[in-house]
Amino acid sequence: MGKEELMKKLEEKIRNCQKCPLGQLRTNAVPGAGSYDAKVMFVGEAPGYWEDQKGLPFVGRAGKVLDELLAEIGLSRDEVYITNIVKCRPPENRDPTEDEIKACAPYLDRQIDIIRPKVIVPLGRHSMKYILEKFGFKAEPISKIHGKTFEARTLFGKIVIMPMYHPAAALYRPPIKEELRKDFQKLKGLLNSAL
Ligand code: SF4
Ligand code: URA
Repeated sequence: MGKEELMKKLEEKIRNCQKCPLGQLRTNAVPGAGSYDAKVMFVGEAPGYWEDQKGLPFVGRAGKVLDELLAEIGLSRDEVYITNIVKCRPPENRDPTEDEIKACAPYLDRQIDIIRPKVIVPLGRHSMKYILEKFGFKAEPISKIHGKTFEARTLFGKIVIMPMYHPAAALYRPPIKEELRKDFQKLKGLLNSAL
């Protein structure tokens, strides 16, 4: 089976999933969007109000920030892949629980295995913690490790992880936006290097 078929099947599974209580509360599950051949995969936290309404990732205010940051390094949404660690919206946008992450993260694991990205960018601390620990690294405060790179080996080759602040954190905090901008420039350098 090709990537396209595998991803479509997985997305269908996510849209019908009831593996955790969030399945009962959602309007739409949000599997992810973008290129199945993306070199870089962005992993946010969980859908918010608009994402739940539309079934698409990062289409609310945080998404506008992400679009801006992507545009600044010449990337469009259709050449990257964007998803979340938890695919259904937690009520009142609360943080996802450990149990919800545990129930949902196997979908993210599958997406990584199918897409085989060169770079994974976890956005925010929940995603950073899950991804770093998955590849055998220790989670650290996002203020300390954002923009740093971690090299991991996978069955499909080398992968670089570069955690960043969550774009929503930049909404009312210009200094965080500046850090995100700088980290995106680093990402651009990484993508232009011999990956
Ligand atoms: Fe299934 Fe994940 Fe939605 Fe829970 S959050 S119902 S595990 S898709
Ligand atoms: N915040 C996230 O973490 N993900 C989204 O898809 C939207 C907002």
